[in-house]
Amino acid sequence: MKLKDIRKVLVVGGGTIGQQIAFQCAAHGYAVTLFDISPDSLRAAKRRIRAYGDYLVAERHIKQETAEKAIEHIVPTSDPGQAAAEADLLSESVPEDPTLKGEVFAQFHRLCPSRTVFTTNTSLLVPSQFAKSTGRPERFLALHFHQPVWVGNLADVMPHSGTSPEVVSLVRDFAKSINQIPLVLQKENYGYVFNAMYSGLNSAAIALAANGVAAVEDIDRAWMAVMKMSVGPLGMLDVVGLDTVWHVTDYWAKHIKDPQTVKNAAFLKREYLDKGWLGVKSGRGFYSYPHPAYQNPTFIHGE
Ligand SMILES: NC(=O)c1ccc[n+]([C@@H]2O[C@H](COP(=O)([O-])OP(=O)(O)OC[C@H]3O[C@@H](n4cnc5c(N)ncnc54)[C@H](O)[C@@H]3O)[C@@H](O)[C@H]2O)c1
Repeated sequence: MKLKDIRKVLVVGGGTIGQQIAFQCAAHGYAVTLFDISPDSLRAAKRRIRAYGDYLVAERHIKQETAEKAIEHIVPTSDPGQAAAEADLLSESVPEDPTLKGEVFAQFHRLCPSRTVFTTNTSLLVPSQFAKSTGRPERFLALHFHQPVWVGNLADVMPHSGTSPEVVSLVRDFAKSINQIPLVLQKENYGYVFNAMYSGLNSAAIALAANGVAAVEDIDRAWMAVMKMSVGPLGMLDVVGLDTVWHVTDYWAKHIKDPQTVKNAAFLKREYLDKGWLGVKSGRGFYSYPHPAYQNPTFIHGE
């Protein structure tokens, strides 16, 4: 299979990042099906994809016509059979739960053509954890994106030991074709390259809040002031989605049983998830949206 044989991309999971992957592929000329089990999520995805296109146009990353064309090329569906038909490449972005991901791959293995290449966008798991469930381990690997996909355009291409080298090359070429800088890993690594570094920062920022060392705003202010950034680590986690952050933290809390990681997971659940505060997508997280305090020019001075 060559890059030119990839025409239809199936994105499974129409949440925060699936929406952006769908947009990225559609804007680069691929026919895209966006599958989600929840019709409500699909309705929200349609709205948010439009808002994402508007944001990229407003920030002068793309032209209005590109945004319109991309949106036209995305077919949202909650019918798995329709979604799978004629798919050449599947990009999975369902919640960060290894059992769920395994079930989703097994379901789509039954429905997709045998040629379909399966990729996972997992943040902190590794493809060998679900390779068997895909039913096609040699055509399976991780293709992992960074938010916002259009701007943060690095994509990790991470095979497991059973991925065929041809499929690795194909997916690297595919990543280039959607204007991502492909970073092919030499071995599996939890957190790939960027996330492996970045998750250390995030855990430290959550620990500072969970341990009551400093206020949320001051933790971000420290990072923003010294690093000259327009957003701090906790503000960025609102963009990622606090449920996704909790899934990752809770997974590691259960696996490594490090007391601070356990505390961080409990803090996120109690103070944010249980209140429905999931970050930008729910209008409230560490900050309130659409106008979070850190965007105020006086924020950095503690006002
Ligand atoms: N948010 C990010 O910045 C980011 C970046 C890179 C990777 N990821 C990874 O991408 C994945 C998704 O993250 P997200 O933040 O978009 O999550 P999300 O919660 O915003 O979206 C997940 C979507 O999956 C849908 N879903 C649940 N079960 C499903 C199923 N069985 N079949 C199809 N759809 C199903 C949900 O309805 C929801 O719309 C996670 O593995 C996450 O670690 C997230």
